[in-house]
Parts: sequence; structure tokens; C-alpha cells
Amino acid sequence: MGQTVFIPREVDVSEPRVAASPDTVKRLAGLGFDVIVESGAGTASRIPDEEFAKAGAVIGKAGDVAKADVVLKVRRPDEAELKAYRPGTAVIAIMDPYGNDAAVDALARAGVTAFSMEFMPRITRAQSMDVLSSQANLAGYQAVIDAAAEYDRALPMMMTAAGTVPAAKAFIMGVGVAGLQAIATARRLGAVVTATDVRPAAKEQVASLGAKFLAVEDEEFKAAETAGGYAKEMSREYQAKQAALTAEHIAKQDIVITTALIPGRPAPKLVSAAMVASMKPGSVIVDLAVERGGNVEGAVPGKVVTTANGVKIVGHLNVPGRVAASASLLYARNLFAFLETLVDKTAKTLAINRDDDLVKATMLTDGGQVVHPAFAGKPAVMIASAEPAKPAAAKKPAAPKKAAALKRPAAAKPKRIA
Ligand code: NAI
Repeated sequence: MGQTVFIPREVDVSEPRVAASPDTVKRLAGLGFDVIVESGAGTASRIPDEEFAKAGAVIGKAGDVAKADVVLKVRRPDEAELKAYRPGTAVIAIMDPYGNDAAVDALARAGVTAFSMEFMPRITRAQSMDVLSSQANLAGYQAVIDAAAEYDRALPMMMTAAGTVPAAKAFIMGVGVAGLQAIATARRLGAVVTATDVRPAAKEQVASLGAKFLAVEDEEFKAAETAGGYAKEMSREYQAKQAALTAEHIAKQDIVITTALIPGRPAPKLVSAAMVASMKPGSVIVDLAVERGGNVEGAVPGKVVTTANGVKIVGHLNVPGRVAASASLLYARNLFAFLETLVDKTAKTLAINRDDDLVKATMLTDGGQVVHPAFAGKPAVMIASAEPAKPAAAKKPAAPKKAAALKRPAAAKPKRIA
């Protein structure tokens, strides 16, 4: 098709993941795209330039983004990066738009059509595009590996001639995608695992993984799951009952892993300083929610803190990035699966159907405007570009539309499939 997909090296040095793999480069070429990968883009994910080249990519430089019709990225491009993007370029990444209005505006001003992968509806058709699941799964795994590395005792029970090492007790708080993988991983390492959540559906899932479920199962618990499958923010009364139940349990644990999140809200506080203080020296807490405010009092983003009583609180950032080589492969496949739906396979050209549910749910900016229902109504002035647009890009609106024309129907409510 002669259209170009560009995969840059992430500008953020704390981001080791990359948005393509040799496998997806081959698939992109199969769709008819020319693929340019910035030199070094895969280095931190153990994908050398040669592997990308062997798969059919041209190895380029950062400035090649100006040739792109599509940019695949891990993180949202910042204002400086956007200067080199042509208006009309489709940019697919984890855009992290909440609370980042200025950055969303910058995307609109650059005239790019930005897609926020984390808004992908959780419906059957989009399962292979679910970056939250693919990355949370690895984060749940890595949280246990990090806990085991910080823990200065063995996890499995070991009966030896010299005596018996008891199995470590691990408690997983919040059992969505990350929590379920944490249970499975801790069990594989031989820990005795218990888990809690506020959604009733979690109970059976926990049991099916061989762990014991512990929760305040009152009327509020029975109604805690939203139609989208997520948790609601619980009442103060519930939180108090939950704290009373878990406090006693946490005091006896060797490892606590917290993963609890509520969409669009700060993470619920589940482990108080008093609970941390009740734990034995050498115990380890991993707070996977630390980037969203944290579940654990005393957790510090990006740090491993040791408390006065010798408990370690692990607050690593970008936990999927700690298993970057695996995380990138899955992330790349998520992006490819979505991009494939934006291509007219007969004409071998990009053909973004703005009425498609997946497009409506994920499109953040388009034609110089912020168009996502959650953020629209914030007009931005498109920057002039020195580069003439390619034909595919020229099809898109060249000038900002009127605010009234922006109103798109709200994204379809995601249907749960699992
Ligand atoms: P999440 O990352 O939003 O939250 C993690 C967990 O924290 C959730 O299980 C939530 O119930 C729990 N939580 C929230 N507040 C809590 C509190 N106060 N105390 C204890 N736990 C609390 O959730 P995630 O991982 O995105 O999964 C949400 C749901 O979506 C799950 O039911 C999951 O199985 C489902 N899902 C469905 C998919 C599909 O249909 N394609 C794909 C992936 C997940």
C-alpha cells in the first residue's frame, strides 16, 4: 500500500518496552505496510535492530516519524516529539489521558489521530487488543518474583534432614487480572495463598486457583461489580469492616501483594501503617497500585522502603517493564490486532471507520480536536505543519471542526465476556 508504520524508540528512559516485535513487523509487512523501526527501539526488550531488519523492517532514525502514516508506541508522545509528526498520522499507544489534559491538547494541536489502547472495550472481538490484561498479567507475575527476591526466606515448605522450612504465607488483595496471576505464581512457588476482593465473581476464581478467599460478604459486596466487570468504590462502613477482617490476617502473612484499582478513582487504601507495623520483620509487601495512589500506607513510588519494624514495602514503577522482553511481545500483538481492524485489506490502505465501536471507544483526538466523549469539549488549535500531508492523511479533515460537530455518541458499554 506504500503507507508507512513507524516504531520509535521510547523517549522516556524508564520505559524499556517497545511497540513492535519481529513477529508483528512481519505481519505489518504482510498487510502491505512499509515498516521503519528506529535504531535501538528494541534494545531494552532484547530485540536487536538486526532481528527487526530480518523481519522486514527498515532501521531508521527518530526523524523518520515524519514519513509515518501510523506510529506504534508504548507511551503517549510528548509535545517535543509531536513537533516531528505530520497531521493526520494515526498514533496508537497507552495514552494515559486522565489528569493529563495539557498532553491530550498537545495531541489534538499536532493534528494526530490518537488512539488510547487502555480504552479498548472488554468485548470478545477486542480480547486480543486488551493491553490492560496483557500487561497486568505480567505485572501480577513479576510482583511475586519481586516479593520472593526481597524476602529473605524460602517460599515453599522444605522438609530436609536438617529440619523443616515452613511455607511462606502470601495474601493477594484485589484479584483482577494481575491478582489472579499473582495467586497462580505464588502457588507455583509453594506459598500458602489467600486472597480478597470486593467482587463476588472473584470468589470462585480464587478457589479455582487453589487459594482461600477472604472477604466481607455482605449486601454491598453482592452489588460491588459494575456492568463493565470492574469494582465500585466501597462505602466507608464497608471499608471499616474490610479493614477489621484483614488486619488480623495481614499480621500473620509473610508476603502481601496489593493490586486493587477502581477505574477513574484513586486506588483504595487497604493496608494501613498499623497493619504494616503488625507484620513480622522480613515480611514483604508489594503495592502494584502505587502509580495510582497506592493501596498501602507508606509505599513510595519507585522505591523499596524498609519500615522501622523491618517490613519491606516494594513500590516499583512500570512493573510490566520489569519483564520487558515478554511484555513487549504481548503489547506488540495487542497493537497489531487493533491496527489490523483499521486497514482495508482489499485496497491495502488505512481505512479508519469512525463508526466502529472499537474506534469510538479508543479515539482520543482527531482532525485537530479532542474527540473522546470523556475529554471532548476542549478545542485545540491545530499547529501548522511544514510537511505536505500524504494522500491518506489528506483524506482526514485538514482544519479543526466546530465544537458542535465533534459530539460523537458515547462509547458502547463494554459487555463482559469472562
Ligand atoms: P482492576 O485492575 O480495575 O482492579 C483490580 C482488582 O481490584 C479488581 O478485581 C477489583 O475488584 C479489585 N478491587 C477494587 N477495589 C477493591 C477493594 N476495596 N478491596 C479489594 N479489591 C478491590 O481490574 P482488572 O484486572 O482490570 O479486572 C476487572 C475485571 O474485568 C475482572 O473481573 C476481570 O476478570 C475482568 N476482565 C474481563 C476481560 C474481558 O472480558 N475481556 C478481560 C480482562 C479482565
